[in-house]
Amino acid sequence: MSDILDEVRFGVIGTGRITRRLVADIQSTDGAKVTAIASRTSERARWYADQYGIPNGIEGYAKMLARDDVDAVYISLPPSMHGEWSIASANAKKHVLCEKPLTVSLAESEAIDQACSENGVRWLDATGWLHHERSETFARWIQEEKFGKLGHISASVSFYQPFQSGDHRLDPALGGGCVLDLGWYAGGFARFAAGQLPEAVFAEQVVIDGAAQKLTALLWFANNLTATLSCGYDTATRKWFEVAGSESSLICDDFTRPWNDRPARCWIHDAAGSVEQHSFEGHQERRMIRKLIGTEPLAALHRQALDTQQIIEAMQTSIEQKTKVTL
Ligand SMILES: NC(=O)c1ccc[n+]([C@@H]2O[C@H](COP(=O)([O-])OP(=O)(O)OC[C@H]3O[C@@H](n4cnc5c(N)ncnc54)[C@H](OP(=O)(O)O)[C@@H]3O)[C@@H](O)[C@H]2O)c1
Repeated sequence: MSDILDEVRFGVIGTGRITRRLVADIQSTDGAKVTAIASRTSERARWYADQYGIPNGIEGYAKMLARDDVDAVYISLPPSMHGEWSIASANAKKHVLCEKPLTVSLAESEAIDQACSENGVRWLDATGWLHHERSETFARWIQEEKFGKLGHISASVSFYQPFQSGDHRLDPALGGGCVLDLGWYAGGFARFAAGQLPEAVFAEQVVIDGAAQKLTALLWFANNLTATLSCGYDTATRKWFEVAGSESSLICDDFTRPWNDRPARCWIHDAAGSVEQHSFEGHQERRMIRKLIGTEPLAALHRQALDTQQIIEAMQTSIEQKTKVTL
């Protein structure tokens, strides 16, 4: 249970596609509610507030941070704006839930961590899959060496979408492109499964219409553990991974978010061809919100986010310099 306040009052910044889902998740989490939403325009703020049962629709993001009836801010803006508004929220003594990717650079992400720490507020990036009960089981299994010695991790995250003009995913100035957008999931999973940063990274991208639309990367970890990542906007939805060990492999086809109307699932394949299926209940976003407003230490989740940002930065450097990058 939260002991920050009896009920944590969220203000939302931005009125995009994902906002709808997170507003409903905050509204349905015990101990949390949404009291205000801010947009660049008053019309959109009011429309959104009326549509989703939020008491206050506000024009301008800064006004949100001055409100006394807001304890925490959910930031749902294009990635290039995450750093500025997360730091401003922390300086206004509001807890921060910032959409993924956390920011567009490691330095900016570290600045959020520092601003939150200096202001005594909590922060999380809204990477929902990390908070599913299933992911905690994955971590335990890996820790217990259930699959033997790990040799390889692969993660593939994609969706096929003809973008509408103006989509921030196609605008590098707004932090667009699949390296940040989808590499956040695949690179983050590799770091999660390996439990550490890679020692080296090599990455390539395909740029179409000015933005990275396909990413292929190879990561080298200690003890001969390797990982391959495949991300893009060029193939149908994939959100899967394989963690291959000396005794068996863990396989999951929905790690970023369970398929609609199906329980979260995974399989363990052994060397003799037998397969064990596991299913999990639970709601990853509500658990994430509970963690933000609760009291449990968040340092390991912060490390996961900062390491993910560092992996992405290494991939970007590798792409630019067309070379293997050592971390
Ligand atoms: N966790 C997840 O599962 C998940 C899923 C999808 C997206 N995301 C992340 O959520 C964030 C938002 O993505 P989205 O797809 O919801 O974005 P979106 O629909 O384009 O919405 C972004 C919002 O940001 C505001 N904004 C401010 N300046 C802007 C600018 N120059 N261009 C565009 N929008 C601007 C707009 O709100 P106002 O006009 O009202 O101010 C807009 O509605 C991204 O970081 C994305 O990676 C996360």
